[in-house]
Amino acid sequence: MAHLFNRNVLVGVSGGIAAYKSAELVRQLQEIGASVRVIMTRGAREFITPLTLQALSGNPVHTELLDTEAELGMSHIELARWADLLLIAPATADLLARLAAGRADDLLATVALATAAPVLLAPAMNQQMWRDKATTANITTLTARGYSMVGPASGEQACGDVGPGRMAQPEVIAAAAAALFETGLLAGKRVVITAGPTVEALDPVRYISNRSSGKMGYALAQAAVDAGARTTLVSGPVNLPVPDHARLVKVVSANDMLEECLALLPECDIFIACAAVADYRPAAIEQQKIKKGPEQITLQLVRNPDIVATVAASEYRPFTVGFAAETNDLLAHARSKLSRKRLNMIVANDVSDNSIGFNSDNNEATVLWPDGEQAIALTGKGSMARQIIQLIAREHGAGDTGQSN
Ligand code: PMT
Repeated sequence: MAHLFNRNVLVGVSGGIAAYKSAELVRQLQEIGASVRVIMTRGAREFITPLTLQALSGNPVHTELLDTEAELGMSHIELARWADLLLIAPATADLLARLAAGRADDLLATVALATAAPVLLAPAMNQQMWRDKATTANITTLTARGYSMVGPASGEQACGDVGPGRMAQPEVIAAAAAALFETGLLAGKRVVITAGPTVEALDPVRYISNRSSGKMGYALAQAAVDAGARTTLVSGPVNLPVPDHARLVKVVSANDMLEECLALLPECDIFIACAAVADYRPAAIEQQKIKKGPEQITLQLVRNPDIVATVAASEYRPFTVGFAAETNDLLAHARSKLSRKRLNMIVANDVSDNSIGFNSDNNEATVLWPDGEQAIALTGKGSMARQIIQLIAREHGAGDTGQSN
């Protein structure tokens, strides 16, 4: 069954009679699991009140581009990054023309330009307007740019005409939105993803760990599930919902994580190491709580096993992807890890910047492989995960035909 669990759907409503149906659409999107925010154009507010959509979505409705208070709440750029999908329903002829021209003359058109998320349009207009060459040309332009369409349906229209131009029914639009995430790129593949921090005990109540929230790894798991992969998350302690259809293996320390990963290897085609694994652990775990004593004490630490390098060197050797969390010389360090750990691919992210990387909702990265690289611009972790999975599917496919792996 179609679902949008853990998805942020930004619904854009433009000014047509079908705007009243967007209330039902918001309800249906939420029913299948989406978090919904709404942008309304000025025209849309002539047909349905923001209050209705605010009550249904549970979030304030965004209407103005140049409104200091609204920008303080959530700026248009934050909205654009928040979205895993921008769904515009209804998309009027005027809005299609403005999008095709790349205009940024209201909040909705600006967010459409500013988002890296996929855009789904549900056109709605009079049948003659839909058939007009200008609209046809705009649709061709937008489709070529990667926008997706659902509808319009044919039938009797509000103006009395009969023909194509009616907005698709809310349940059809919601199903099309869910289908966009089911790419099938990794259909039949078995993917293991490590996520979150590891926790290395010092005594019964203290430990060494790090600020990894698991968001990046869990987003990768969601994207892998959507791509049709049988997905297992090997996760350190985090506080996140497990993506539907992903299997969760809970671990605490680096040694636990290694053991579980090795056990999964005979049934793993692609291994993605996103966890922030502690490089060192206390040499001994005290059985009793360490008492306060001298001014200074020395902790003795020993090296933890390198999980991703062990996986890459194993007899099963899946297509192995690592992450590089760096604070300086990002690409040089990442390239060195790519070859030292014998990885197929590495995702380099700069963790010196608090607004990306550890415990943030956004990330920015460069993905490197032995003979190429691709930058992924600052975006939400959901969108980043989907772009990484696309690259993995492409490069892993290249391996299937003998080029790598
Ligand atoms: O969890 P979030 O809050 O969303 O943050 C995401 C993230 C910043 C943790 C993630 O994007 C990230 O960068 N993960 C890798 C963190 C890390 O440990 O990087 P590293 O450069 O120290 O390690 C390189 C690679 O070796 C990583 O794939 C790591 O998982 C792996 N490794 C490291 C040490 C070790 N003992 N075993 C390993 O497998």
